[in-house]
Amino acid sequence: MNNFVYINEVGPRDGLQNQKKHLDVESRVKLIRSLAQAGIPGIEVGSFVSPKAVPAMVGAKEIIQALNDIEYCDLSVLVPNMKGYELAIEAGAKMIAVVPSATETMNQKNINMSLEDTINNSCEILEAAKNNCSTRAYVSVAWECPYEGIVNETHVISIAEKLLHAGANELIFADTIGAANPSSVKSLLSKCVSEFGATNISAHFHDTRALALANVCAALETGVRKFDACIGGLGGCPFAPGAAGNLATEDVCNMLEQMGFKTNIDLDDLNAIVDMCSSDFDLNLGGRMTPWLRKSN
Ligand code: COA
Ligand code: ZN
Repeated sequence: MNNFVYINEVGPRDGLQNQKKHLDVESRVKLIRSLAQAGIPGIEVGSFVSPKAVPAMVGAKEIIQALNDIEYCDLSVLVPNMKGYELAIEAGAKMIAVVPSATETMNQKNINMSLEDTINNSCEILEAAKNNCSTRAYVSVAWECPYEGIVNETHVISIAEKLLHAGANELIFADTIGAANPSSVKSLLSKCVSEFGATNISAHFHDTRALALANVCAALETGVRKFDACIGGLGGCPFAPGAAGNLATEDVCNMLEQMGFKTNIDLDDLNAIVDMCSSDFDLNLGGRMTPWLRKSN
């Protein structure tokens, strides 16, 4: 079994979009460069969304342009619709992520579109991107929706199938509100792995109920080797009530290294970045392992 685990850092997008304090472009570029220098192989650097809907994400174009010398890290941006996709390509994005949710209400609340329109739009974007950039496709609220409750596995798999068919290079199953548990993770992801193969699949967990690390372990058992994570455990979707912080990057990297997996990420560098974010936001950030990681140095 492959022992390299690919971590995609979503702090600059999922982590920052819900903070009261908004970081300017310069501070976000500094954060992204530090994350890339720590060895993180993939970073979601922002989103091309309505500035009215998510003011914290203003400046995505400037961020992409300021980072165009970085070649050793996959920099992606989230796009909610065709307009976002076009703006991202114009700005020079090399990787985009579409973000359909699995339920009608979540799509309405998040991007003001029906489920059917969202899937069709996401597929159109993925088709259009085939000649322009690589693509990631989220299936948000893949386990549970804050508005509609438990989500049916067959329904999630049928959405994923459409996204893959439209050209998605990677599927990310997202537990947007942190309601999944190791049994439900194993159940859905083992079916996805047998349907689509493990190399195409990634998982995105929130730590609302302190189950994010356990959920990573369950996903590892199904063969999944890619995870989203967020520095300092920042994060949450402004349109999904109850979405607490993401799985902390430093926690998952430390756990994986202790289990014998490789991430190629420097834990000391991550600790320094947690300190930088804590002072930027005037918050006491850090994953569950941060105090222990500091003591063991
Ligand atoms: N980027 C920037 N502006 C956009 C845009 C995009 N991707 N898509 C639409 N707009 C602008 C339109 O040009 C229009 O501007 P105007 O008022 O100056 O004419 C305005 O937004 C409304 O356009 P409309 O197509 O009617 O969009 P909407 O009001 O239905 O909003 C979204 C749809 C998708 C743009 C909005 O809901 C959104 O940005 N959601 C983001 C959700 C998010 O980031 N969630 C967290 C991550 S999962
Ligand atoms: Zn999230």
